[in-house]
Amino acid sequence: MSGDARKTAEGLVYLSGFGNEHGSEAVPGALPVGRNSPQRAPLGLYAEQLSGTAFTEPRAHNRRSWLYRIRPSAAHPAFTRTENGAIRTAPFTETAPDPNRLRWNPLPEPAPGTDFLAGLWTLGGNGDATQRTGMAVHLYHATASMERVFSDADGELLIVPERGGLLLRTEFGLLHVEPGHVALIPRGVRFRVELLDASARGYVCENYGAPFQLPDLGPIGANGLANARDFLAPVAAYEDDETAAGPVEVVNKFCGNLWTAMYDHSPLDVVAWHGNHVPYVYDLRRFNVIGTISYDHPDPSIFTVLTSPSDTPGLAGVDFVVFAPRWLVGENTFRPPYFHRNVMSEYMGLIEGAYDAKAEGFVPGGGSLHNMMSAHGPDRETFDRASAAELKPQKVDDGLAFMFETRWPVTATPQAAGAEHLQQGYDDVWQGLQRHFRPAG
Ligand SMILES: [Fe+2]
Repeated sequence: MSGDARKTAEGLVYLSGFGNEHGSEAVPGALPVGRNSPQRAPLGLYAEQLSGTAFTEPRAHNRRSWLYRIRPSAAHPAFTRTENGAIRTAPFTETAPDPNRLRWNPLPEPAPGTDFLAGLWTLGGNGDATQRTGMAVHLYHATASMERVFSDADGELLIVPERGGLLLRTEFGLLHVEPGHVALIPRGVRFRVELLDASARGYVCENYGAPFQLPDLGPIGANGLANARDFLAPVAAYEDDETAAGPVEVVNKFCGNLWTAMYDHSPLDVVAWHGNHVPYVYDLRRFNVIGTISYDHPDPSIFTVLTSPSDTPGLAGVDFVVFAPRWLVGENTFRPPYFHRNVMSEYMGLIEGAYDAKAEGFVPGGGSLHNMMSAHGPDRETFDRASAAELKPQKVDDGLAFMFETRWPVTATPQAAGAEHLQQGYDDVWQGLQRHFRPAG
């Protein structure tokens, strides 16, 4: 935590747009014009391509950036294994997948000096990181800024802060993210997390699959949901080892394990870049919420911010969904989320306030897991209240909840399945739902 970091964070400027061919240079003339790899890159920099998709993927999905840096990424010593801490990676085979509805309280307080990486704690996930399928749900609770640098070869990281602002120093530049905003670090991009407050807490979706993209809008039209212009990428900013204090530890997550190397320079030394494989931030309150203006309400897929497509059209590896402030106006409609059983699996978290289907027990920093085909929906108290409520237009604006919805069941890690902060008796919220059936006659 430092006042300087906050001042830096609040003064940042960004490039606007999702999937754009952005370009940025921290020093005028650092970005080559008209070619990617001149015989001698400008200003004595090294040119390097970072591929987020295979070279040959269709243009609409292709992600890559060109980086112009003080030293090439190849200039590093051997990595050696280091402790994985509380980070776990798919395939998750240590615990039997659990058909029960599960709910957790927030992570316990970490030890002083715990940085973002040490504070990452894996709840569970699915797929196989080595096959680039599936996802993991992590939580973090940190009390110190990182001095080391981290990158994740296994997937992209969608960071969802719940408490405490973060300054993300990435190869592409700096990002500021606060609770209510999300940040995305693409696969393989090196970054460091600095805390802007005494502690930081939140959620991370590690997406092993195809990079998140904006969902198709179909009959909604050309606008709505998350608008492309609200995604903000950094401008180039670099660390020069002439001014760095000593060697830099770089930790690389690769096929489930953490590997470490001591660099003699900062790998955040990109002076200019261009491309569409970039980190970004997005303010969830910019989400254009669409819902019914007649009756019933659409399926919650209408709240999708980002989707990671699979090879089956319409079937996501994982969707990121937000339940943002909105009006409920449906006539003769049960307005909270309906009871349902879903072939998809749902991990829900709460950024602030309360969620309109759960009167209590679902708290900011906690989370619930409703796996494939598990029956869930409003709790008894919410059902009773909503069934009797006068259906005036009603603003739901007391909370910000989200969901990681994934095509495969989420298997909890042993540390999550046996956690002290796993709530006991979650099933009880659906007990006491009265029989109301009255056969005619
Ligand atoms: Fe659900």
